[in-house]
Amino acid sequence: ELGPYRHYMQKEIFEQPRAIADTLEAVGDVTPGLFGEKAAEVFNDVDRILMIACGTSYYAALTSKYWLEGIAGIPCDVEIASEYRYRKSVPNPKTLVVTISQSGETADTLAALKHARDLGMTKTLTICNVATSAMVRESLLRYITRAGVEIGVASTKAFTTQLTALFLLTLCLAKVKGRLDPKDEAEYMRLLRHVPKAVSAVLALEPQVMAWAERFASKEDALFLGRGIHYPIALEGALKLKEISYIHAEAYPAGELKHGPLALVDESIPVVTVAPNDELLEKLKSNMKEVEARKGELYVFADADTGLESTEHIHVIRMPENYGPLSPILHVVPLQLLAYHTAFIRGNDVDKPRNLAKSVTTE
Ligand code: F6R
Repeated sequence: ELGPYRHYMQKEIFEQPRAIADTLEAVGDVTPGLFGEKAAEVFNDVDRILMIACGTSYYAALTSKYWLEGIAGIPCDVEIASEYRYRKSVPNPKTLVVTISQSGETADTLAALKHARDLGMTKTLTICNVATSAMVRESLLRYITRAGVEIGVASTKAFTTQLTALFLLTLCLAKVKGRLDPKDEAEYMRLLRHVPKAVSAVLALEPQVMAWAERFASKEDALFLGRGIHYPIALEGALKLKEISYIHAEAYPAGELKHGPLALVDESIPVVTVAPNDELLEKLKSNMKEVEARKGELYVFADADTGLESTEHIHVIRMPENYGPLSPILHVVPLQLLAYHTAFIRGNDVDKPRNLAKSVTTE
């Protein structure tokens, strides 16, 4: 069943091009109907979004905030389910409540969905990988990702297919709100449909990432940096590394370095940097200089034309192409591979990391 792979996690990382293509398979036009019969009516009446999730699904939500505000112009809040369900919040009936979950059974996310509904927020949408799950049954609207069964405890293909669905949701809401002209829509959809191919090209970087994993395997701490929409990707990279390799990893928006984490930087700590070629590149480069000045070792996933080259203390893996708004889907892939190979070298049980369960159905 594993074919050429050693673990389900590795297999699932390599299934991502297929999983994303399947998630897009039934998509023709960008229309509310993709999210359920009542979606047209609901989307018309929505003026903000509240995303609720846990873990990796929470990072998918955080990523999509940048799309929803940047492309669709809709205010978007993102909450950790276990926090949201227990705090006093101010409900707004015009909010679209979006729960995101691979399993659709995560206790806190399901309870948060019911909590939102009890507060009078009945416009609910679940993005989920399991069509028959509790969350899908409890929601008015739904989008089913087609990642296929995910066995590895560390979520990989579920994450990238969630991002695929969330980008579609963004386009759909942008269109409903009259903020998407047909030319842009066609261009975004062209980019989205090309993602499976683009992910395949990123997967071909595996041997280079393995060489880095050899060095990471002997570390006890790592720092991950990103900016803008790639900050949640840095968070996801750090989560992957900590949960399967048991290396302590923290992610920061690079602009926060000076406000504390720079104190951690010395020769011994690897600093993984997500470096897309976007409008924040120059800012990111100056953050990298701060690390360099403290003799930190930088491990940079850099797009083409960023001018970033390997030097003594900067190691660069070049990403195959710049991918504009969909770049997070590509940049998370080498971080998954880095965590996987580091954990494997350390001899860990990659598919069943200690203390963790695949589906957290109790609080
Ligand atoms: C991390 C991971 C977990 C899950 C979280 C939510 O790799 O798998 O953080 O993302 O437990 O699970 P779902 O998406 O099933 O609600």
